Amino acid sequence: MKAVIRGFGGYLPEKTLTNFDLEKMVETSDAWIRERTGIQVRHIASDNEYTSTLAIKAAQEALKNANMTGKDIDMVILATTTPDDTTPATAVQVQAAIQMDRGYAFDVQAACSGFMYALSIANQYILSGSVKNALVIGAETLSRIVDWSDRNTCVLFGDGAGAVVLSAATTEEEKAGTGVLDIVLHSDGNCRQLLTTTGGVSRTQTAGHVLMEGREVFRHAVTNLAEVATEVITRTGIKLSDIDFLVPHQANVRIVESTAKKLEIPMDKVILTLPEQGNTSAASIPLALFEGVKSGRLKKGQLILLDAMGGGFTWAAALIRL
Ligand code: ACO
Repeated sequence: MKAVIRGFGGYLPEKTLTNFDLEKMVETSDAWIRERTGIQVRHIASDNEYTSTLAIKAAQEALKNANMTGKDIDMVILATTTPDDTTPATAVQVQAAIQMDRGYAFDVQAACSGFMYALSIANQYILSGSVKNALVIGAETLSRIVDWSDRNTCVLFGDGAGAVVLSAATTEEEKAGTGVLDIVLHSDGNCRQLLTTTGGVSRTQTAGHVLMEGREVFRHAVTNLAEVATEVITRTGIKLSDIDFLVPHQANVRIVESTAKKLEIPMDKVILTLPEQGNTSAASIPLALFEGVKSGRLKKGQLILLDAMGGGFTWAAALIRL
């Protein structure tokens, strides 16, 4: 039994914020941001757009792409660090909006690796036979927890949502080897202070602002991402040269380039959305998948490697035959 990706969706708010706009807000420059991060512009949710607004649009697009409706979905898992409310889960807003009148919906929190964790959970439910079709979403309004006076962090993040429909494979797909081959997850709570927020519900009764030791996050990211990618490749017995595309979490172009170099994957085989989207945390991988499919670069039958790293620290990698 395998799980296959049947549909891809994504949504970015209309409003954008360029590096030149940021020059007017904090002491920074377009040249610095481009050179150190690769980011040029990011999308920002308007006042009446919430994480659920973006998630619902991405989910509807993924359902359309899969030729399905909410009635076909058994489970919704939504990865986010920026839920609409402390409770209930943002996932149940998606469940109601897509008119899914059965099954269940819940959120997961694993920072920038959230989508990979959600994908892994959905994959296990499908492998166990208890779910046939799952909607897996990464959605964020990071702009709501960014300190817009902190140049160390405010230049990095953007808002958006991406979604996939993950389904039990058909017999033909099984024979063709299509689907999720393996997913590896890791976390290390000893590093929790290196990428965190200034508060939270229980501790300060606020959402807090993003707080990051940039250099330390960078150092761990380049090591952990290459290691976890190598782990999943070794476990599946796949040859590096068989990988058609790397679809990484979009944190910083230098982190992506370093991982690609270590894995000997040329940059023309990497889906990069950073320049136009910035770091959208849990939304970045499903958004990159959506962009890759929309642009025609990602096609059926290809072997893709996903990897992510975020607060916790959490990190993960997956190999999928599209
Ligand atoms: N504009 C101009 N100067 C800046 C800015 C800015 N926006 N931000 C920091 N600087 C300054 C610093 O103050 C420092 O000045 P100093 O030398 O006078 O002290 C100088 O630039 C160099 O700072 P560094 O932190 O060494 O710069 P670095 O090259 O490491 O780049 C960055 C910083 C981009 C944050 C990098 O460390 C990074 O990308 N880290 C990974 C963090 C990340 O991606 N986080 C996202 C969330 S986690 C994830 O998704 C993996």
